[in-house]
Amino acid sequence: MTIKTVSTIPFTDQRPGTSGLRKKVSVFKQPNYLENFIQSIFDCIGGLHGKTLVFGGDGRYHNREALQVILRMAAANGLSKALVGQGGILSTPATSCIIRKYHLRGGIILSASHNPGGPKGDFGVKFNVENGGPAPEKVTNVFYERSLAIERYKIMEAPDIDIDTLGHSRLGDMDIEIIDPVSDYVELMEILFDFKKLRGLFSTGQFSMVYDGMHAVTGPYAKAILVDRLGAPEGTVIHGDPLPDFGGLHPDPNLKYAKELVEIMNSEVAPDFGAASDGDGDRNMILGKRFFVTPSDSLAILASKAEKIPGYRTGLKGVARSMPTSRAVDEVARYLGIDCYETPTGWKYFGNLLDAERATLCGEESFGTGSDHIREKDGLWAVLFWLSILAEERSSIEEIVRKHWRSFGRHFYSRHDYEDVDSQKAHELIDRLRGQLSDLKGQTFGNYCVRDADDFEYKDPVDGSISQHQGIRIFFEGDARIVYRLSGTGTQGATLRVYLEKFEANPERQGQETQEALAGLIKVADEIAQIKSFTGRDKPSVIT
Ligand code: G1P
Ligand code: ZN
Repeated sequence: MTIKTVSTIPFTDQRPGTSGLRKKVSVFKQPNYLENFIQSIFDCIGGLHGKTLVFGGDGRYHNREALQVILRMAAANGLSKALVGQGGILSTPATSCIIRKYHLRGGIILSASHNPGGPKGDFGVKFNVENGGPAPEKVTNVFYERSLAIERYKIMEAPDIDIDTLGHSRLGDMDIEIIDPVSDYVELMEILFDFKKLRGLFSTGQFSMVYDGMHAVTGPYAKAILVDRLGAPEGTVIHGDPLPDFGGLHPDPNLKYAKELVEIMNSEVAPDFGAASDGDGDRNMILGKRFFVTPSDSLAILASKAEKIPGYRTGLKGVARSMPTSRAVDEVARYLGIDCYETPTGWKYFGNLLDAERATLCGEESFGTGSDHIREKDGLWAVLFWLSILAEERSSIEEIVRKHWRSFGRHFYSRHDYEDVDSQKAHELIDRLRGQLSDLKGQTFGNYCVRDADDFEYKDPVDGSISQHQGIRIFFEGDARIVYRLSGTGTQGATLRVYLEKFEANPERQGQETQEALAGLIKVADEIAQIKSFTGRDKPSVIT
């Protein structure tokens, strides 16, 4: 086997976004595109000799082919050992778990998370660092700089590696171990949660749930835990086989894309609990019988009940949420007397807080919840957390949430996305808002008077690094808020995200339907940002 050095020229668009480098499959399939980015990573992370990296992905189209290329490049670049999820499969949380458990140098995850797959869909590459979390911005910036200067990459000339059979093989000097993608993760869940108690919940015969794997990576994990370990009946896991095109589904667990699950949960014969995860298994959606739990409320409720869960019995050190996430968890933190951190959008910003033991639970409004057990958000972990609450309280999800609102107040919350809008117009909209910030204060729109407005800037309390332009925030009297930002994960045009939030302390007024409760604020959001005229759309493409 020989090592080949191939000359190449840089691509100018390899700057990682909110979560790794994400592009259309057709972009990744261009000659040298994947190779350039992988070589840029290898060039920046220092010597690979004596090191181990883990490799896997969400099973989407191009996963297996890309993995073969990456393994040949890893061997050519002197990596000593590669752990590879069997079949090229590893969920994002499982990868994080494995990096931490075996003290690895890091890992490469092939995924475009919740974006659609297939030949016309998206593909992505994420690098996770030693703590198991996504590479922070200062690291991904270095990858990007490198990608702009790259002149060659190294690859081993070798036949395809068998990635389907467990065990060891060699590629040049590199040891390859094909590992079971599920077992380390399941072991960690068994430490955090009381599986005996959860088995008790299913064995009553009084409790039922449906878990939607969305034909993405979590099916095998969910079956191993829910069916094999906890005794849930076969059929509990739907869309459980990972498929390269996700069976044509859009693997984003929300009310629009998890359509079949939502229909089941809204039906007369709905089970007690419904849940779904995304392409790579780090997101979660939680549903009760005809009841949707917003991810922001979910985080707050988990925080308020964490001490009942074995893994969190000693209490929470603090909590953290992304800025656009509702402030429901802030109320719980105040009640518990712990710190609550507000970070920019993207899980990578939680890493330092978790490492420094300042936060134990973290969450984002975008269906992401997690804790210090790993350094990624974790879909099935959230499901097990909710199951544990249900096993403890034996009441319905709806009752649990309504009770929470009565104690802490309700944060009516919704996100309106305008997808694939003209990129220039979207930037103009944000620039215009930025220019207006100082004039907005004191102005009244509808029933809402602006108390304050800014362009969110974050100073990491651990390493002091500063991240600017993380979203336009407009605060109103009476605790309402609108946030505007552009997505950093899209692959086509721009996506404008508008986050709407209104606090209601009075239990008598907490029963309203969300979009109705927010109707006035939705109008104000358009009036201030001129959304219709900039985007040419009269309604959002997705409402969550
Ligand atoms: C979106 C979400 C963000 C999440 C990220 C990766 O990023 O908004 O919270 O961390 O996906 O799952 P965005 O497209 O908004 O930049
Ligand atoms: Zn994801």
